[in-house]
Amino acid sequence: MPPRTVGVHAERDRRRTGRPSGRGWPIGLRGTPRVLLLTDRLKDGLRLREVVDAVEPCTLVGPGQSAEASPDHRLIICDAALDGPEALAVFRAVLAHHRLDPAVPVLCLARGTGPDVMAQAGAIGATAVLPRDASDAQILFTARRLIRSGRPADRCPAEPAVAASARDAAGAFGDVFEAARRGRSVSASALRRGGSSVMDAVAGGRIGSWLDVVRSHDDATYQHCLLVAGLSTGFAARLGMTTRGQRLVAQAALVHDIGKAAIPPAILNKPGPLSPAELDVMRSHATIGHEMLVRQSGFDPQLLDIVRHHHEYLDGSGYPDGLSGDEVSALSRLVTICDIYAALIERRAYKTPTPPGEALATLVAMGGKLDAGLVRAFCDFIGVA
Ligand SMILES: [Fe+2]
Ligand SMILES: [Fe+2]
Repeated sequence: MPPRTVGVHAERDRRRTGRPSGRGWPIGLRGTPRVLLLTDRLKDGLRLREVVDAVEPCTLVGPGQSAEASPDHRLIICDAALDGPEALAVFRAVLAHHRLDPAVPVLCLARGTGPDVMAQAGAIGATAVLPRDASDAQILFTARRLIRSGRPADRCPAEPAVAASARDAAGAFGDVFEAARRGRSVSASALRRGGSSVMDAVAGGRIGSWLDVVRSHDDATYQHCLLVAGLSTGFAARLGMTTRGQRLVAQAALVHDIGKAAIPPAILNKPGPLSPAELDVMRSHATIGHEMLVRQSGFDPQLLDIVRHHHEYLDGSGYPDGLSGDEVSALSRLVTICDIYAALIERRAYKTPTPPGEALATLVAMGGKLDAGLVRAFCDFIGVA
């Protein structure tokens, strides 16, 4: 049975020795702590705790320290180096012990701002990421926003099982995307794990909860790929597709934009319209992703087809191959619809999400570009989701 008290280094010791260590008291207990700050740097952590504690009672767990997991926590702040698989595994375990409610948001203070850091933060299920040297005001602003959005009093919390599956899927997606960013092989087992988590989460028509949970993810690529995976899998189930087919769709949707791992972050995360040259680079993600997976070999041809052709339109105006009509496979048509809908309803720093009704109207207005029968079925699916 896992220990109920666990800190960063205590968990590392537990993994090495099989038993917990460092059963000290957390520093700074005051009132009922609503914020838990996990840090691997005590001096900086003490200063940050003082800042946070001024507005929200905050418990600090530093190196070698531990604290009771508490149902009162409304926010967990992670201030730790996440470089390397061991550090990631340790922090995931620490979070698993402290995050009694998967709906509790996690703010990751990242040591750097590169794509690797974002992927690592995503891999521990971070809800939001700020650079470690962000101003105190920025950290407090984000912390308050997350506390408010995590468990608003007038909203039912997301179903814990869905939130847990979303966290698992985000972790698996992080492993896959991180490998692609580093030019390494995509882990087939991580992809299977992610696909299974998506299927678990949307089973029984719980797509609404999945959308709620996933749309709170700050990293745009994570949010997008998890949204498309949930929508595609739920839609495939609604269409009566076999379990094997749903599994294929779930995995393909998770990696449909894997080629974006090779797109420069300045273009990928540009908060505004792309220039024609930038658009060309961005559009190359479909062929890059396809070639990445073909090179690795072992992936289902239908999955590869979706990765390459999820931007093709039936009237031949899509890319990269300008396919038309029957040349576009049924599964690619399905994922394309979910991809467009997801992009419209996503939350981004520079745009407000399109309301579902308007997003569906946009799909319908695309006319001959999309499969009209599938669009009608998708409208029904979202209408009752
Ligand atoms: Fe794409
Ligand atoms: Fe996409």
